[in-house]
This record gives sequence, C-alpha cells and structure tokens, in this order.
Amino acid sequence: MTNKANAPASASAAGLRGVFAASSSISDVDGEKGELIYQGYNIHDLAKHSTFEEVIFLLWNKRLPTSSELSELERSLRASYEIPAELVALMKQFPREADPIDVLRTAISALEFYDPNARDVSRETSIKTAIRLTAQFPTIVAASDRIRRGLDPVPPAGSLNIAANFLYMLKGEKPSEHDAHVFDICLVLHADHELNASTFTARVVAGTLADMYAAVTAAIGALSGPLHGGANTNVMKTLLEIGEIENVEPYIKKALAEKRKIMGFGHAVYKTEDPRATHLREFSKQAGESAGDSKWYEMSRKVEEIIMREKGLYPNVDFFSASTYYMMGIPLDLYTPIFAISRISGWTGHVLEQYTDNKLIRPRAEYVGRRDIPYVPIDQR
Ligand SMILES: CC(C)(COP(=O)(O)OP(=O)(O)OC[C@H]1O[C@@H](n2cnc3c(N)ncnc32)[C@H](O)[C@@H]1OP(=O)(O)O)[C@@H](O)C(=O)NCCC(=O)NCCS
Repeated sequence: MTNKANAPASASAAGLRGVFAASSSISDVDGEKGELIYQGYNIHDLAKHSTFEEVIFLLWNKRLPTSSELSELERSLRASYEIPAELVALMKQFPREADPIDVLRTAISALEFYDPNARDVSRETSIKTAIRLTAQFPTIVAASDRIRRGLDPVPPAGSLNIAANFLYMLKGEKPSEHDAHVFDICLVLHADHELNASTFTARVVAGTLADMYAAVTAAIGALSGPLHGGANTNVMKTLLEIGEIENVEPYIKKALAEKRKIMGFGHAVYKTEDPRATHLREFSKQAGESAGDSKWYEMSRKVEEIIMREKGLYPNVDFFSASTYYMMGIPLDLYTPIFAISRISGWTGHVLEQYTDNKLIRPRAEYVGRRDIPYVPIDQR
C-alpha cells in the first residue's frame, strides 16, 4: 500500500482482518485453539456454571459478583423490565410486516426520548442506562411479536430471570425449567465476542461520546446483516427449504457449485470449531430428543458433515442455535433479535469501556483514486 504519513501499514488488510482496533479486557477469541473467554473465564466454564445475569455483571465489572452484588443486579434488572407505555403505543403504529430486528432498532432509538439522563455518559449513569437497555430489549422483542399478531403485549414478570421472562412474555405462559435453562445458556454464549462488527460499530459511535442509545441503535443495524447476526434466521430458512434429510446432499452440493455461501458456517476468526457451537449442537440434539422429533438436528448434522467434507468449514454460533430455537417454537425472524437480547450485555460493556478511556476512533482510508485531474466545466464534458 502507499506509505502515507500517519497511516498504519496494516490498514490495507481487507475487512481489517488481524488489525487490533481497540484494547479491551472484556473478551478474547483464540481462533486457532477455538477458545473464547469473557474477562479471563473460559466460555465452557461459564456455560456450565454461570447464568446470564452473572455474565452481565462480569462483562460490566471485570469480575464475578458476590451473591449480594448478583442479587442487587437481578433486582435492578427486574425493576426495569417494563417499557414506557408511549413506546408500546408507537410500536403499534409500525407496519405489521416490519422485520422484528428493524422494530427493535427503531424502538431502541425511540427509547432514548424517555430517558432524561440519556446524554450523561458518566460511569454511574451509564451503568443505569446499561441496566435499562439490557432489561428492556426482551420486553420490546416480545411486545413487537405480540403486536404484529394482533395480541396485547404480556406484561413482564418481575419474579423471573431475563431468559424465563422473555419466553413468558413471548408465549403468555411460563416456560418449562429445561427451556428456560437452555435459553439462559444461549444468552450466556452470545453475550460477547470481542471486536465483531456490531461491537466495533458500538465502540465507534461511543468514541464520539454519543450516548449509549445511539451506540446500541447503530450496533443493532450492524447485527442485522446476513453475514453477522442475520445468519441464524437464514440457517433455519435453508433447513426448511431443504425439507428432508435425503435432500441435504444434492442441495448443499448444488449451492456450493453455484458458489453460494451456506449460512452458519465459516468464521472470520475461528479456524477450528467455534466453542459456542459445541454447546448449541448439544442443545439442538436435546431439543429434538425431548420433542420426539430429531429431524432438524439430524439434517443439521448432515449439512455439517458435507460442508466439512467439501469445504473444510466448521459451524459457527448461528448454525445450531437455529434448530434449537425452532424446536422451542420461536418464530424464525426473532432469532436475530434474540442474538441482540444477549449481545446488548457485551455492547454496553464495550461502550462503558470506551467511555472510561475514550479516544475518538478515526482510522485512515488508503486512497486508491486518481489525483491532479484538471476540472472541466460541465458544458465542455
Ligand atoms: C463469517 C464469514 C463472513 C467469514 O468470512 P471470511 O473469513 O471473510 O471468509 P470469506 O468469506 O473470505 O471466505 C473464504 C472462503 O471460504 C468460503 N466460505 C466461507 N464461508 C462459507 C460458507 N458459509 N459457505 C460456503 N463457503 C464459505 C468462501 O466462499 C471462500 O472460498 P474461496 O476462497 O473458494 O472463494 C463467512 O464465513 C460467511 O459468510 N459465512 C456465512 C454467514 C455466517 O454464518 N455468518 C455468521 C458468522 S458468526
């Protein structure tokens, strides 16, 4: 690349692969080992022993909570579940066919109007904003699904944790302990993932000292793309399109021959199995077994086997989450908003970290255009 004064040599890497664009202690991905850590804790230990609420504390505070700190956070989150009535009224004006991830993005942008302290980016107020956002994402997603189906939103249940409360608000009945637990671990697994596209977006916006609502609204926009959080919905669409296990091989081979990407495979950082996929594969299997219908799990395994054989690619976090959510009876277009319900904890953690030691993020572009072209008046062109 051209060696411009003040332009780092590494900036020419397409897609910024391998470029360190922030310092963070929140999470780390080791793509060679297939390892993910949150604040030093291995994701496998957290998936086994922790809860989403505990992980939220960890991401925001760089350490695990004591039991009284955890109770205090749970109390604050539950006290913030409810969304302003004005927001529900606004959401009722949205088109019924609007994509729920776009509804979430717009609702979060509007939520700022009802927070008189939104512009205060001090640590103390930002933690309160982070609690509010994390508590209200599930309420907005569940309400948007009820509204589009012509139903009244189910008021949040302050006695339930975030995972159980979301499933309760979505369906209007308390989830089984098993489903609530599996969903809770899904939230743990999706909570943070270093400098992925939406988190980077949140940090860029926060770096201008714009408020947390602005940063998170932009992050939702980044998450919605099919190469990022939009992949999980597309995985289930693909499985439904394939339809039957005997169709898997010809379908995948044809798609690969046409150079189409199979959603839920490959990763910008992992060169081996995504550690989150290991848990989700098991959840998908269990969901099939307990429903007495392992079709989607079996089909997923077959797709996995063919993609490994043909392309040497591993499944990522989106692949088995699709069939897991499908077996829980969750509508396909809510999978990406569910990703956001979890990732809000990481986004807000990164925004808090960015505010603490802020520097405006302003990289350079490698100019590849022409120079010194004489200006020709329009009537002479
Ligand atoms: C995630 C992703 C964007 C990472 O991409 P990347 O590291 O930039 O890799 P590339 O897109 O450059 O792909 C490298 C090669 O692998 C192939 N590849 C990558 N992912 C693939 C997939 N899901 N299906 C088929 N082929 C794939 C590419 O076609 C390319 O092959 P080529 O060298 O023969 O052209 C990419 O794997 C992808 O698009 N996956 C599907 C979407 C998805 O699941 N996203 C969620 C990520 S958590």
